[in-house]
Amino acid sequence: MARFALLLQVAALATGIAADAGQSPAAEDIDHANNESLLWGPYKPNLYFGVRPRSPNGLWTGLMWSRADSYSDPQHGFRYTCEQRDDIHGYGWDEYDARTGGVQTIHDEKNLIDITTSFVKIPGGEHGGSWAARIKGTLRDGAPADLKTMLFYFIAQEGVGEVAPEGKGGKFGFDDDVTFKGNSKSLGDFTLVVTKGEGKHPTSQHHISETRKGDKTLVHSSAYSEDVMWQGQPIVFSQLQESVSYIQKNYAADGLPPAWQVYRVEHRPGEGNVHVVEKTFQGPFEFDVIFSSASAGKAMTSDDVTEQLKLSSKSFSDRFSRIFDFKAPFTAAKYHAFGKSMFSNLLGGVGYFHGHQLIDRSYATEYDEDSERFWEEAAEARSRGAQKLEGPYELYTSVPSRPFFPRGFLWDEGFHLVPIADWDINVALDIVRSWYKTMDDDGWIPREQILGPEARSRVPEEFQVQYPHYANPPTLFLIIEGFMKRLRESKADGGDGQAGGNLYTAYLDNPEVGEKYVKEMYPLLRRQYDWFRKTQRGDIKSYDREAYSTKEAYRWKGRTETHVLPSGLDDYPRPQPPHPGELHVDLMSWVGLMAKSLINIADALGMKEDVAELERNLNAIERNLDDLHWSEKEGCYCDATVDDFEEHQLVCHKGYVSLSPFFLGLIKHDSPKMGRILDLIGDEDHIFSPHGIRSLSKQDPLYETGENYWRSPVWMPMNYLILTELHNVASHKGPFQEKARDLYSRLRKNLVDTVYKSWEETGFAWEQYHPETGAGQRTQHFTGWTSLVVKIMAMEDLSESRGKDEL
Ligand SMILES: *[C@@H]1O[C@H](CO)[C@@H](O)[C@H](O)[C@H]1NC(C)=O
Repeated sequence: MARFALLLQVAALATGIAADAGQSPAAEDIDHANNESLLWGPYKPNLYFGVRPRSPNGLWTGLMWSRADSYSDPQHGFRYTCEQRDDIHGYGWDEYDARTGGVQTIHDEKNLIDITTSFVKIPGGEHGGSWAARIKGTLRDGAPADLKTMLFYFIAQEGVGEVAPEGKGGKFGFDDDVTFKGNSKSLGDFTLVVTKGEGKHPTSQHHISETRKGDKTLVHSSAYSEDVMWQGQPIVFSQLQESVSYIQKNYAADGLPPAWQVYRVEHRPGEGNVHVVEKTFQGPFEFDVIFSSASAGKAMTSDDVTEQLKLSSKSFSDRFSRIFDFKAPFTAAKYHAFGKSMFSNLLGGVGYFHGHQLIDRSYATEYDEDSERFWEEAAEARSRGAQKLEGPYELYTSVPSRPFFPRGFLWDEGFHLVPIADWDINVALDIVRSWYKTMDDDGWIPREQILGPEARSRVPEEFQVQYPHYANPPTLFLIIEGFMKRLRESKADGGDGQAGGNLYTAYLDNPEVGEKYVKEMYPLLRRQYDWFRKTQRGDIKSYDREAYSTKEAYRWKGRTETHVLPSGLDDYPRPQPPHPGELHVDLMSWVGLMAKSLINIADALGMKEDVAELERNLNAIERNLDDLHWSEKEGCYCDATVDDFEEHQLVCHKGYVSLSPFFLGLIKHDSPKMGRILDLIGDEDHIFSPHGIRSLSKQDPLYETGENYWRSPVWMPMNYLILTELHNVASHKGPFQEKARDLYSRLRKNLVDTVYKSWEETGFAWEQYHPETGAGQRTQHFTGWTSLVVKIMAMEDLSESRGKDEL
C-alpha cells in the first residue's frame, strides 16, 4: 500500500502541475509547485554532503566522518567541508536531478573507504515534501577488513523552530533507530529518523567497554548561537575534546582504550538547536537519514527509500539520454558516464545562500578613475576600507567549485546555466531571477556573492569587499535570450499540447506564463544594460577619436596595473601603463551582446520604441568596433589606448580579448574580417592548440608570464562561445562556411578529448587545461563551467567523414 502511494507520487511529479485538460495553470500555481519541488536539496555545496531548504532559516544537516583506527586519524582524515587535497581520489555526484535527487560517491583514499550519499526527494503535502539520504561505506582496496569508521550526522535548527530526539535511548546510547521530532513555521511538523542501519560494530577488551559500546548510537544535544552553529567541525571537535580530556585524565598512556573508544561525544540527548549523532562501524556499513514531512502523509521507511532510489536513478538515466543526446564521435558508453558525472556535479553544486555581504559604496568617490594615475590613487583609497555589511541577501545559484569557490560568481553563472537550461529550464530561470534580486537600484550586481559568515570564512579578507562601480561580463543574458528563442519556437508549434506540462519545462509548456516571466525580467535587464552604458563608458571625445558614434566605447573600471578583475580575464595583458583614455574591446562586445539580446526580447514583447533605440545602439557598437578596435595589420580586434601625443593607439595581444566580437556574434558572416579571424583561430603558431584555443597567442611576449592565469591556458567558457559561433558560421551559406566547419569539428574533438582524458586520469574536472600537454591545472574539482563539455558533446557533428557519408 505504501509502495503504491509512493509510485503515485512519482507519477504526480512527472506530470507536475494539476490542471484541467486544455486549460493552463496560472503563473502562481506553477511557481508554487516549483517552489515545493525545489525546497530541499544538497544546497550546502561547500560540504561533502549538506542538506538544507531553499529558505532563509530552517533545519539543515551535514555529514562528517573519519577513520578511527589510530589516535591521529581524526586529525588528518576528518571530513566535513570540501577541501582541495590529494588524499581523495575524486568525489561528486554520479547522478543528480534537482527535482528527484541523486547519488554521490566520495573516494576517500586517506580513510580507505568509499562513501556513497544517495539523496532522494518525495513530493507531497504543503511543506516541500520529504527526503531521505542513504549513507553507505564500502572498503577500498588495501583497507583492513576490520577498518573502523566513525560518522557524525550534524543536525541544526536555524531561527525559530524546534527539533529534539524522542526518548533518551539507554544510558550509554540508542540501540535502535533514533527519531527526532520537530516543527517550524515553514516546514510544519516533521520527523527525522537516523536508522540503526546495517554493519558490524567494533568491540574491545578495555574495561571502558562497559560504558563505551561500539553498537550504540550516541546523541549529543546542545544549544549554540547562530554565529557559532554554522561551524560544524569545530563544534564536534570541541565535543570530542571533552572525551579525550577525560581519557587523558583517567588512564595512563599504556592503558588507553582503542581510538574508536576515545573519540566519542557524550551521550546527552535532549533540548537544543544542534544535535550530533555519532555512529561507529567496523567494516562496510549503511544507514539512512529520513526526513518525513507530516503534511505529506505516512512517514517513509528504509524500504520506501530503496524503492524511490531505484525509480529516481532510472528516471535520471532516461532523461539524461534524451536531453543530452551525444553526437559522434562521443557516442561510446564511456562518454555517457563521463557526461553524467560532469553534469550531475554542476547541478548538484547548486546551493542556497543567505546572509549579509560586505559592500563599499564610498570607495568609488574617493578616487577619480579619470585622473592620470588613477590606479595608484585607487590602491591608496582602498586601504581606507569603508565597507559595510548590507543585507541580508539570498541567492540560489550554482558554484564554480565546491572546495575552492563555494559561492555565487556572476559571470560563471551564465555559463553554468547553459547545460542546466537544457535539463531544467525552470531551475535555470529561478536562478537568473534570484541573481537579479541582488541587483541594486542603479543596475549593479555584485560579481562575487559572499553571503554570511560561513561563505566569508572561505575568502581572504582582501577579496571580501564588493565595489558598486565594478562590472563583470553579463552572461545571464545568454540564458534569457536562449529561453526567449525556445519560447518563440514553442509558441510557433503551439506548445507541447500537454496541459500543465511538467515542472522541468513549465514556463515553455505554458507560453503565457513564460512570457510573463520575461516581461518581469525585461526592466531589470534593461536597468543593468543602462548601468553598463553609464558607468563603464570610455572616452572618445577628449582624444578626438574618429568614430561613427561618439557614445559607444567602453572601459572596465577598477583595473590595476596588472589586473582587470572585473573583466573576468584577470591578468590578460592590457595597455601599459593604465590610462583613462583606454578602451576595452571585450567590454564593448559584452555591451553589444546585451543590446542584441534586449532587441530580441523587446521585439517579442512588442516594444517598438525600445527595439528602435536598441537597434541604433547596436549599430553604433558594430560600427565603432571597426572604427576604434579593428587592426587591419594584425587581422583582429584590439584594446586601445592613447600614445604620448594623446593619439588613438591600438594595443594588440592576440587571444580571447581579440576574439570577443567574434564569439559574441557581432561580426557579419560574410565580412572579410570574419575570414581574418578564422585564420587566427586556426593558427597553431598563435592560439590553436591540440587541447583547445589558448587564452593568449604563443607569439605574444607575455605568453606564459607572471601568474600565467589567462596568458596561455585553455579555458572552457571562452572555447564554448568560440565553438558556438563557429557552428553558427558553419551552418549558414557563406564564403567561410567550409573553413568554420573544419575548425568547429577539430576544436570540438580537442576540447572533449582533453577534459575527458584528464578526468579519467585524475578523477577531477579542472579549472583550466595546459595548452601543450592537456593536463588539468589550478583548481581541482572545478565542476562549474568546465561542465560545458556536456553541452559540447551534444552539439552537432559536422566532421568530414560524416559529410561524405551523407553525400
Ligand atoms: C516562491 O519562492 C520565492 C522565493 O523563494 C518567493 O519569492 C515566491 O513568492 C514563491 N512563490 C510562490 C507562488 O509561492
